[in-house]
Amino acid sequence: MDVEEALEFVDHLALTTTGKHLDSLQKAILRGAWDNQKYKEIAQHHNRSEKYVKEVGFKLWKLLSVALGDEQVSKANFRAKLENLQASNIVSLVGNGCIHIGNISADSSQSSKKLQSEPQQKNKFNEKTSNSKPKVHLDLADAPEPNLFYNRTSELTTLENWILGRTRLITILGLSGIGKTALTLQLIPQIQHEFDYIIWRSLRNSPPLASLQTDLIKFCRGGAPVPAPSVPAPYPEERATTGGLPLLEYLRSHRCLIILDDIQTIFSSQQLAGNYQPGYENYGAFFKQITESSHNSCLILLSWEKPREIAALEGENRPCKSLQLNGLDLEAQEIFREKGLAEPEKWSELIDLYRGNPLWLNIVAILIHDLFGGSVSEFLSYDTLFLGDLESLLQQHFDRLTASEQQAIAWLANTPEPADISKIPENLQLSPPELLKVMQSLGRRSLVETVKQNGRSHFTIAPVIREYITNKK
Ligand SMILES: Nc1ncnc2c1ncn2[C@@H]1O[C@H](COP(=O)(O)OP(=O)(O)OP(=O)(O)O)[C@@H](O)[C@H]1O
Ligand SMILES: [Mg+2]
Repeated sequence: MDVEEALEFVDHLALTTTGKHLDSLQKAILRGAWDNQKYKEIAQHHNRSEKYVKEVGFKLWKLLSVALGDEQVSKANFRAKLENLQASNIVSLVGNGCIHIGNISADSSQSSKKLQSEPQQKNKFNEKTSNSKPKVHLDLADAPEPNLFYNRTSELTTLENWILGRTRLITILGLSGIGKTALTLQLIPQIQHEFDYIIWRSLRNSPPLASLQTDLIKFCRGGAPVPAPSVPAPYPEERATTGGLPLLEYLRSHRCLIILDDIQTIFSSQQLAGNYQPGYENYGAFFKQITESSHNSCLILLSWEKPREIAALEGENRPCKSLQLNGLDLEAQEIFREKGLAEPEKWSELIDLYRGNPLWLNIVAILIHDLFGGSVSEFLSYDTLFLGDLESLLQQHFDRLTASEQQAIAWLANTPEPADISKIPENLQLSPPELLKVMQSLGRRSLVETVKQNGRSHFTIAPVIREYITNKK
């Protein structure tokens, strides 16, 4: 393999995983990596800053790592990795836009971001490895590209253990920007060998369950149209959830990993957390069915809100688990380092104020860089907490709240110390049972924090949310 063949290979891979060809800078980085050039030299030849070229390079290695199911692709080993893959017949360009990569093959004539195997097409690799490792069929068309990613080792280990332990339904919960999507993208290379099929779908356009299931079955059938069911599904519940289509049959006969992102879109606004919009209630029965039926597949849900029935289904020894994703810890300092902020001794204060939310931290780091030349202390000297672009993000969460939730969160915003909910103030027109229900719902939306004081639970909210609510008045 020479550098041009390597470029052709990576270009096919980029096209099939991102829908886009490599641009000239990406090609220059690959050529440079092939010839062992430094980022500085590549940047000079391309009239770009070294920092920018490194960022582009980092994304490229991430893309290759995910697509090849190898966590370790880097500038230093890129050439060796490709040469090794070719030497072991794991990579071959076979013309007509098809490449074969280990247990994955990709057809770049498809414009969508798909990695699918083509069992009927024989090549040396397929012959050589057909007895060793089953093929994985990947469709990450709906997933964003992986980006810079720090830590989350313990969360990744927990998720991996749950999957190895045959958990059937996993919900990853957290506010917008906390890193649910990024974490799940990191998980895929770690566990993909466990599955026959992996598919990622975003519910951002709120698809009805029947059309989502048709889409999933089509993928499991290698793109072939889904036949109308010859006999109705045996159980009424199954008929209600699948419209008679046997998705469960595929989940039983193959090990499938289905990732559904942005599932809050199927829940109603102005109702307590996790209540389905009219016409979407059958998703609840679907999630229950996935948990309770016998199969070895796994469904991962990424959401701002916990679906109503999950609380009743989950448990330590049960095949349904939830991961509440909290903010990054000290590793979030990397975000500030990357953005070139000064005064590292102040960074932990900033991380605490913005609760380690990587998106919030990125937004605030850009502001500190742009307005204060990177001086964190100058930023912190202001009395009020800066929100800027965060306001519209928080608005989306706030718009979903019921009137009672808005009342309760406004009370918490006005209470500087964590509040004891057994002492309801008079202006809060909620009975004790109502307040409990409302606090549970705010918890299921990741909007309140619980702290223990003198052995009792007290409730509070993050400084950013307090600032947002106070500014709204
Ligand atoms: N561990 C991490 N290290 C560095 N950056 C991260 C990390 N996790 C997330 N990010 C970055 O933070 C931003 C938000 O992450 P992500 O999109 O995964 O959040 P999310 O929880 O899925 O949000 P939403 O609910 O709005 O979809 C992205 O730019 C992502 O690259
Ligand atoms: Mg997301």
